[in-house]
Amino acid sequence: MHRVTVDNLPAWLNIPQLLGPGAWELTTRDGWVRAEAELPRPQAADLGARLRNLGIGGRKLRVACIPKLPRGAVRAARTQDARRRRQTSVGFSRSGVRLDEQGRFSLTPEQLALALGKRANGVHVVDAGCGAGGNSIGFARAGCRVTAIEADPKRAADARHNTRCYDVDQAVEVLTGEVEALLPTISTDPQRDILFVDPPWGRGYNRERVALTDFPLLATCLAARHQFAEIWAKLPPSTDVHACEAAVEAVFGHAPGDARRVKFLLLTFHA
Ligand SMILES: C[S@@+](CC[C@H](N)C(=O)[O-])C[C@H]1O[C@@H](n2cnc3c(N)ncnc32)[C@H](O)[C@@H]1O
Repeated sequence: MHRVTVDNLPAWLNIPQLLGPGAWELTTRDGWVRAEAELPRPQAADLGARLRNLGIGGRKLRVACIPKLPRGAVRAARTQDARRRRQTSVGFSRSGVRLDEQGRFSLTPEQLALALGKRANGVHVVDAGCGAGGNSIGFARAGCRVTAIEADPKRAADARHNTRCYDVDQAVEVLTGEVEALLPTISTDPQRDILFVDPPWGRGYNRERVALTDFPLLATCLAARHQFAEIWAKLPPSTDVHACEAAVEAVFGHAPGDARRVKFLLLTFHA
């Protein structure tokens, strides 16, 4: 058995889901949690591999193991972790969809997009920077009317095409252009409507810590608060949210390969 300590877990996180089975003892200080448990070697090695070089909510996770894990166990766990990453939540499941490289990389997995859609409860949603349409389709499938904005004309065309693959093209209007220019022209109900933004994270984004100021598209959206009841932002798990007025939630994957991984943070800003 190994005594495993995980430090720098934000108190708002579903810690049992992230860490998995174990008699975890939790100590909270200033909104950050330390978790400690005795774990069998394979489970300790798995946790070390899964949480390696990751931060959640703005601080890098620290994992310590006593006695130290042998190199062979660490290597085997990392290989297994890499294999498991291939069984993560599916992006689009329907055939015939179109995605360029950025569209594919930034696509919200279908089931997670649908779950967000259900939460929106049928209101009008503006999707600011819709990419290939992953979230717009999720909102529309759940019964929302969607106005989607995308600056890249090719990706906007892909989003239109993909809404047809999912039979929701009647519910989604895709506008090609910059959010900054188009948002003020969209008619909204400030008592009900939601502005959703999934700004570009960049392929090499920092998985230990990123700042809210790293997402200029978010700032643009927050400036349009008066037009909406809520603004929902999908941001990297490593986003530093500690000085932020939004409600924060960590959204996990649902497939076996990512059910214990935080896929993104969902920040809800109220008007
Ligand atoms: C992370 S992707 C969105 C992915 C999408 N949520 C999905 O699941 O398919 C962000 C998109 O925002 C677009 N974008 C970035 N800045 C923009 C702006 N100022 N105006 C309009 N679109 C923008 C990018 O071209 C990119 O396609």
